Amino acid sequence: MPSSPAPSIAALYADHLTALLARAATALERGGFDHLVVPSGTLHQQVFDDRDYPYAVNPQFKAWVPLTRAPGSWLVVTPGARPKLVFLQPRDYWHVVPDAPSGPWVEHFEIVVIRKPEDAQAHLPKNAARCAILGEAQSALGHYGAYRPNNPQAVVDYLDYHRAFKTPYEIAMLRRASQRAVGAHRAAERAFRAGASEFGIHLAYCQAAGQDANELPYGNIVALDRHAAVLHYTELGRVAPDPVRSFLIDAGASHAGYAADITRTYAHDTAGEFQAMIDAVDAAQRTMCAQVRAGVDYRQIHLDAHLALARVLREFGILRITAEEAVATGVSAAFFPHGVGHGIGLQVHDVAGFAASDAGGTIPRPEGHPYLRLTRTLAPGMVVTIEPGLYFIDMLLDDLKAAGKGAALDWERIDAFRPYGGIRIEDDVVCTDGAPVNLTREAWAHAAG
Ligand code: GLY
Ligand code: MN
Repeated sequence: MPSSPAPSIAALYADHLTALLARAATALERGGFDHLVVPSGTLHQQVFDDRDYPYAVNPQFKAWVPLTRAPGSWLVVTPGARPKLVFLQPRDYWHVVPDAPSGPWVEHFEIVVIRKPEDAQAHLPKNAARCAILGEAQSALGHYGAYRPNNPQAVVDYLDYHRAFKTPYEIAMLRRASQRAVGAHRAAERAFRAGASEFGIHLAYCQAAGQDANELPYGNIVALDRHAAVLHYTELGRVAPDPVRSFLIDAGASHAGYAADITRTYAHDTAGEFQAMIDAVDAAQRTMCAQVRAGVDYRQIHLDAHLALARVLREFGILRITAEEAVATGVSAAFFPHGVGHGIGLQVHDVAGFAASDAGGTIPRPEGHPYLRLTRTLAPGMVVTIEPGLYFIDMLLDDLKAAGKGAALDWERIDAFRPYGGIRIEDDVVCTDGAPVNLTREAWAHAAG
């Protein structure tokens, strides 16, 4: 039987909007408000200067419309009425002004174009006290800031909690973000193999992604050799080290406001021991990705990752104790000192990672794991990263010694691996009713064709 054609983006968006409108209605009911009002945000000027910081759209705004570069605009959602977009298109010959809204989403909105930011007020609900206004204080409008974001907790809690469950439209956007990032990752590997510096690899990445620092969802982490031991290394060295041993790249891409977050690690010598360790972490990471199933406590994936990574350390002769002992005594934590991942969506580290319910409450991290960013139980529609890593971080290894745990480790083996810095492998994975969908590996398989 021929399979039915995939729904169009227009159809997916229409369903997405229907879901958002239903969420907004309940959120407003919870907070006791009549209107949801969301400013897109404003430009922020640098101190003692006349230049602006790069604009960052309010995520609560881009949740509704795929506009990421439209400061001074507002969204008004009133249950039962057509949602309204108050769109700022200033008269300005110094800068390029945002294009008039276009795309399959515009037909669902009443769109009002304004020329000055303050003109938005005339198009907002008359009674500001009845509005849940989600945004930054600087967006306030009106006499004495009548339309000042109040960010009611009950409204934010409800919307943020449900944002974890991506609509099919959002999954499609995340898939496109991953495809864009994977193409750029492949270009980055080519640049690495050709001997480029971190800065050169970064430029090759941006060129292939067609995005630069202001559009990427986070600053590229491009680390050669020992720099890979710095978890968020963003220095971009201008000269390649000699010799070049390893390359860790943690870099994403954006699509319609949605993020990809992907990490890969490469060995210069693809027949050496560091490559073998990368392969071992890769195999462990795939097993963790397979755990992304409805009903699984994400904290368990994180705890299991510790044991799996300790087994890799043991396999490579770094541990003198068993993997279980290394986990129990905190030795493995010195090599894997971050969380196994986080939710991803409109924000690279998506909101409500600890939310116990849509009415508030917090699910705690497991004791002794202060950097885990997601503690919720997985459910269909959630999209998470799975990013285990193993690093040789001088500071943390010194701490182990100072804590009297040095005998647990073979220091000669550690010294053999220190020059490579570390390994991290990260995919973006969708939880479904059945088997997980790995957006990153899927994009890679497609690109490798
Ligand atoms: N991609 C960086 C991070 O997840 O922290
Ligand atoms: Mn990540």
